[in-house]
Amino acid sequence: MNIKIAPSILSADFWHLGEDIDEVISAGADYIHFDVMDGSFVPNISFGIPVLKCVRKHTDAFLDVHLMIDRPLRYVDAFADAGADLLTFHIESDDEEYIFKAIEKANERGLKTGIALKPKTPAEKAFPFADKTDMILCMTVEPGFGNQAFMADMLPKIRKVRDFLKEKGLDRDVEVDGGINPETGVLVREAGANVLVAGSSVFKAEDKAARISSLRGI
Ligand code: DX5
Ligand code: ZN
Repeated sequence: MNIKIAPSILSADFWHLGEDIDEVISAGADYIHFDVMDGSFVPNISFGIPVLKCVRKHTDAFLDVHLMIDRPLRYVDAFADAGADLLTFHIESDDEEYIFKAIEKANERGLKTGIALKPKTPAEKAFPFADKTDMILCMTVEPGFGNQAFMADMLPKIRKVRDFLKEKGLDRDVEVDGGINPETGVLVREAGANVLVAGSSVFKAEDKAARISSLRGI
């Protein structure tokens, strides 16, 4: 399974956002992770469509958009128009039928999708979506903020998701997000994660290329 590193721009310097994005891409990042927060689904407000539109204009990097918003179906078209490459929907953010509809609509717009689980949401909740989505995101912190402590009790859940996908013969990405650094990166890769989101660990690093390589396990 190839490891992908997705720096979260929530930890970037917004005064120099463009340079920060260029820097992590040149340092070897595979995705740019975009944490969209609405102040309702999570107790924080980050950024949204105008910022995504502007970033899309200046980079062809893969934009991995993490929607921490209520009832995301409403915004699939707007995020697709703004240039997202992948939209991740939280299972907890609407009734199941509308999450299925959001996945369908995103696919109709040519986007990849992910399904995200908050720490307290059991792995099994993602299973009905596994063959409909491209990625399952197991949060390793409570969503809403960067620079939080990694929740090691999420490791068995990551393993459960990976084992389920293997059992069903589904070649899907398993993404982890929150408190990922070179030390916790070893643990989540062993548990079966192959897409590692890292905000503070990457943006605080002096040598971003070395940090991204260490997150990759090389
Ligand atoms: C939290 C976000 C994460 C966060 C990661 O709600 O979804 O992507 O920005 O930041 P670090 O890597 O610093 O924990
Ligand atoms: Zn995120």
